[in-house]
Amino acid sequence: MRDNMSIQNRINQKEGTFWDFENTAKDMLHRIATYPATMVPDMQREIISIIIEENPSIQNILDPFHGSGVTLVEGKKLGLLPIGIDINPLAHIITKVKLQGVDKNKISSQNAIIKKNLEDINFAYNIYNFYKIDKWFKSEIIESLSKIHCAIKEIEDNNTREYYWVCLINIVRKYSNTRSSTFKLHIKSQEMINTIQNNVIQDFLKSINTHYKYLPDFIKTEEDFTLISGDVKEKLKEVPKESVDLICTSPPYGDNSTTVTYGQYSMLPLYWIASEDLKEFDEELLKNYSSLDSASLGGIKSSKVFEYDSAILKEYLSKISEKKHRKVIGFINDYIETLQLMLNSLKKGKYIVLTLGNRRVDNKIMPLTDITEEFLLDKGIPLISKFDRNIPSKRIPRKISRVNDIAVESMSKEYIMIFQK
Ligand SMILES: C[S@@+](CC[C@H](N)C(=O)[O-])C[C@H]1O[C@@H](n2cnc3c(N)ncnc32)[C@H](O)[C@@H]1O
Repeated sequence: MRDNMSIQNRINQKEGTFWDFENTAKDMLHRIATYPATMVPDMQREIISIIIEENPSIQNILDPFHGSGVTLVEGKKLGLLPIGIDINPLAHIITKVKLQGVDKNKISSQNAIIKKNLEDINFAYNIYNFYKIDKWFKSEIIESLSKIHCAIKEIEDNNTREYYWVCLINIVRKYSNTRSSTFKLHIKSQEMINTIQNNVIQDFLKSINTHYKYLPDFIKTEEDFTLISGDVKEKLKEVPKESVDLICTSPPYGDNSTTVTYGQYSMLPLYWIASEDLKEFDEELLKNYSSLDSASLGGIKSSKVFEYDSAILKEYLSKISEKKHRKVIGFINDYIETLQLMLNSLKKGKYIVLTLGNRRVDNKIMPLTDITEEFLLDKGIPLISKFDRNIPSKRIPRKISRVNDIAVESMSKEYIMIFQK
């Protein structure tokens, strides 16, 4: 039995609602572009610090579902080498810019050029187009965004261009006709659409003039970080066996149609980013508004090969209606297969930190945390610490699925589980 009292002790020392981080200060670096269900930076920093204090030999950190990169960025600030995987090209570009930083002198002179172009009524630009653009944007908004799109495309340096695409993300969401109350694409009422005022150019200029100040200085070399884009089940195989010191992640909790639709959320900003700057991605992922979610964990392409035999899962399935079985099994299969691949990449004696939620299917709580513990224990990997926290109110919609057309409370707690290999 390993002596892990100190990780547990350090966690226990934090009292009351410490882990809720309700009044945490705004970290502007993580606000330059919004992304669904991001982790709380202070919390990730705290957890990573506790583990490093316990085991100072830790050098790198892997987040196989890196999202907008909160965990990787906080890990980097603590001196760890970040390695990330994500299927979503929007997550990729946000995280890349946050990790690689910007050349601040370059940005401030480029900002002046962009401002001049955007304020020039003779600046030549084409009106941009993509599938159903008129549904999601008013024509005057399309004009302003098209002008910005062309001004960004003219920039020669790739890393600099990436900064401007990231600055455009919040602007696209703000001026689109989709509701901000949901991650799904859901059209606003005509009345609401009529109230949208076009301040696109002014807002964009404001963000390009502020966001770069929060980013680190550009010092990227090939060895500074590794970001792999694609499906975790394929890409984790590219991470060398037993090479990782700390895996710290928050995987999707369930099937995409009822939980967080990262893909749908990302599509409008993604369509405005020049496809040349998203070239590492499979074009299929951007084919329609739901292709990304279908390809993600819990999507319709869920694995049918890997069969995980779990007593806890069986008991759970017996409590929910049969028509929900396929989706739950598909998700759990994918999830367990991913856990196995994570284990392969982890060094002996090192750590996995999972932030998980137990969502409901058929109004019955799916015991993802217990299934995780059962699987890892079976592999000889014990749970050394587990605690829960309240999910801050705005992070995920409270009511997200419907049973017999009645909105069901979604998770309000999440669990942090630390395992040691
Ligand atoms: C909750 S977010 C991760 C949050 C992140 N840990 C952070 O620190 O902000 C989950 C991410 O998993 C990604 N994802 C879902 N299915 C995936 C798959 N099959 N392969 C790779 N990434 C996937 C989504 O695109 C999303 O960005």
